[in-house]
Amino acid sequence: IGSKCKTEEEFLSYKEVINRAAGIAWRFPLIEMQGVPLRNYIVQKWSNISAFCPDPSDMLIATYPKAGTTWTQEIVDLLLHNGDEEACKRASTSDRFPFLEIQYPPPIPSGLDLLKNMKPPRVIKTHLPIQLVPKGFWENKCKVIYVARNAKDNLVSYYHFDRMNQAQPQPGPWEEYIQKFMRGKVAWGSWYDHVKDYWKEREKRNILYLFFEDLKKDPRREVERIMRYMDLSVTDDVIDKIVQLTSFKNMRDNPMANYTFIPKIMFDHSISPFMRRGEVGDWTNHFTPAQSQMFDEDYARQMADVDIPFCTSI
Ligand code: A3P
Repeated sequence: IGSKCKTEEEFLSYKEVINRAAGIAWRFPLIEMQGVPLRNYIVQKWSNISAFCPDPSDMLIATYPKAGTTWTQEIVDLLLHNGDEEACKRASTSDRFPFLEIQYPPPIPSGLDLLKNMKPPRVIKTHLPIQLVPKGFWENKCKVIYVARNAKDNLVSYYHFDRMNQAQPQPGPWEEYIQKFMRGKVAWGSWYDHVKDYWKEREKRNILYLFFEDLKKDPRREVERIMRYMDLSVTDDVIDKIVQLTSFKNMRDNPMANYTFIPKIMFDHSISPFMRRGEVGDWTNHFTPAQSQMFDEDYARQMADVDIPFCTSI
């Protein structure tokens, strides 16, 4: 059919119509938005996204992709529901926590569509770097939880995610992906700027800044910190229950949290499961010694202006 199209542009728009009709997800191209590469559909709807105004009771969970978003979302939901497992299985992660900036080709609902149909207080997810977060979140003094993960494990997790998520750009070969990550040429931009910019603002803007590695090392302590930040109080038994329900194994087996609810055409778990390893230090299985040294040298340069206590092993 494509051969009937006269120009490449005509062919591409025709292909898009066919794919939309068939419900096929694209590997969406990235476009720079104020210097940050974002999926084309997000950039197209940028004015609506940045104009979103939350309610003061809304909370934001902000992360660089693959830093522990889903894990934190589940902890927050269980805290809000006093550890009630069934209540937290009322809907999938995507439906319980609107993803602020996400946009797809119609008719797939956007994050803003979901938000429109949900009453505050809502727990909203974003991967936006701090300068792109709609200003209403700061003006309304919404609570913001930020989760950061050490660069090497974050990179490895993102690489495998880009392989399985058909909406993300192709990751390409591993050694090239390392370079793309170091230069911030991946979706949602530079990991380095992301973690640094939230870090620098955390006190001024009352952001709870968490680390994936701490959640792994001492989940009980971190669940308690989240509870206090949310002005909640649950019993010790409920804390224990939440820690157990949000273990990697339990979340991997939870169909409302493990992302098997996304059609295979978009998330292909046979390439790499969403709940992949959930460990600290998996990077050692991917980086060669030379890659690790090159990465560390660049890391020292890019992170020279801050002292964020990341750890790459526990
Ligand atoms: P890996 O790819 O290293 O396994 P996000 O939710 O931000 O997309 O992050 C996904 C990463 O968090 C994946 O990392 C996933 O396995 C890990 N993860 C999710 N839930 C977890 C849990 N309960 N415990 C440990 N890791 C978890």
